[in-house]
Amino acid sequence: MQPMEGKDPLIIAIDGPAASGKSTVARRVAAELGLVFVSSGEMYRAFAWWVTSKRVDPSDAVAVVDLLVRTDFVCGEKEGLGTVAVGGVPMTRAELSAPEVNAAVSAVAAIPEVRERLVAEQRRYGLERGVVMEGRDIGSVVFPDTPHKFYIDASPEVREARRRAEGIADSIAKRDRIDSSRSASPLVVPDGALVVDSSELSVDEVVARVLAAVREPARR
Ligand code: CDP
Repeated sequence: MQPMEGKDPLIIAIDGPAASGKSTVARRVAAELGLVFVSSGEMYRAFAWWVTSKRVDPSDAVAVVDLLVRTDFVCGEKEGLGTVAVGGVPMTRAELSAPEVNAAVSAVAAIPEVRERLVAEQRRYGLERGVVMEGRDIGSVVFPDTPHKFYIDASPEVREARRRAEGIADSIAKRDRIDSSRSASPLVVPDGALVVDSSELSVDEVVARVLAAVREPARR
């Protein structure tokens, strides 16, 4: 399967709650298919980092939007992975997963103007080259027309345990609550998505299911 089928880029949308394993799976699927892997969450995290580093209160939507309109995003690619620079600062893993970013990101991502801006960046980027993009609204809002939609789930206990094992302080239950109940693009199972519960499956098994469904959509 080629990254561009005919003239349409191949777009694979993977959604799911925090620590469901979707980014590990998406990264592997992208490598298998020769597509760029994009974590849309990194874009929200990058902006949340910018907000906190500018000492703007993440719950003050007016101040956050005021900063947003003065901020540049540059989305690029390095070795098959999407990269993001915000305000001219290239983001590293340390910044994106900092505790203050975990605490601020869901409030920032619930602001409609922030979503509108980042969704436009995500669409432009994906349509230029073909991607495996993961997030909360990729199949429902960003690329609703792709036939390749997946929702990777896992029980709350398994997800909390995975995050603890990574040694990351993260209030998953709180983020889930905000992400699922917000009015702008809440986390939902997109229409037509194949739901995979990864609680009892290995990464290899989840990747195999996704690849099989991409290669033979009629059999899913
Ligand atoms: O890796 P994890 O699932 O913990 O989170 P992430 O994908 O890095 O996303 C961090 C936060 O960004 C989420 O909790 C959402 O609040 C927000 N987000 C979003 O609103 N929409 C997306 N498409 C991706 C992330």
